[in-house]
Amino acid sequence: MTGDVLLEVRGVSISFGALRAVQGIDLEVRRGQVTSVIGPNGAGKSTLFNLISGNLSPSAGYVALEGRRLSGRPVHEISVLGLGRSFQITNLFFDLTVMENLLVAAQVLEPRQRLLRDPRFSGRAQARAEQLLHQFGLAAKERELAGHLSHGEQRRLEIAVSLAAEPRLLLLDEPTQGMAHEDTAETAALIRRLAEDITILLIEHDVGLVMDISDHVMVMHMGRKLAEGTPSQIRADERVLDAYLGRG
Ligand SMILES: Nc1ncnc2c1ncn2[C@@H]1O[C@H](COP(=O)(O)OP(=O)(O)OP(=O)(O)O)[C@@H](O)[C@H]1O
Ligand SMILES: [Mg+2]
Repeated sequence: MTGDVLLEVRGVSISFGALRAVQGIDLEVRRGQVTSVIGPNGAGKSTLFNLISGNLSPSAGYVALEGRRLSGRPVHEISVLGLGRSFQITNLFFDLTVMENLLVAAQVLEPRQRLLRDPRFSGRAQARAEQLLHQFGLAAKERELAGHLSHGEQRRLEIAVSLAAEPRLLLLDEPTQGMAHEDTAETAALIRRLAEDITILLIEHDVGLVMDISDHVMVMHMGRKLAEGTPSQIRADERVLDAYLGRG
């Protein structure tokens, strides 16, 4: 149901040597909402995503999706359970075509016994890949190598790839990073459209975009949660103004 807790993050922590990158973070992501994580460089945002997606294991705490514990499971199992993610640094196969990148990611949809067959001949993955090609305006680039796309197109393909397995929760790590102004506006519109169908957890430095599209915002600072609330609560929060947003 819309509004219930889809993702629960409870007291997750991880250190890299002496650096406490993420410390005791609690977060609830509600179904149907856009929840954003903001904070200065090095605050621990991407590390938190790695703890949620299973790329890292927390030293304390746990993460659960629809009541199922994710922590301790391998990444592909977490993906099958309904979590998709994009990476701050791209996760595309540059020497595969646009279509092949989508097909590889969509293979999760195939029944087990079909997994070893050529992805080009498998029905559900093919249908999903074609749907995403059109949805993301990449149909004309179907046969191009991902490595030959423009930066903006690559970021868009990255989001399409993270949706290929039909996740219920989508994690986007700085989808507008390095984009020109018009690409950023286009990506903002794209995220807004996606949010009509899927729950989104977003990391983003563009505060205007965050405040515009989020239902709930968490601010991280030095591995900890500094504040959370609605965009207007965050804009007015003294600690957030001091640590991140500034007073201008
Ligand atoms: N694998 C790792 N090994 C060692 N240190 C790491 C590792 N990953 C991240 N760190 C450190 O942990 C801290 C948090 O990094 P993280 O990438 O989570 O920050 P961030 O909030 O995503 O920053 P940015 O806004 O620059 O992307 C940083 O000091 C970073 O250098
Ligand atoms: Mg980051």
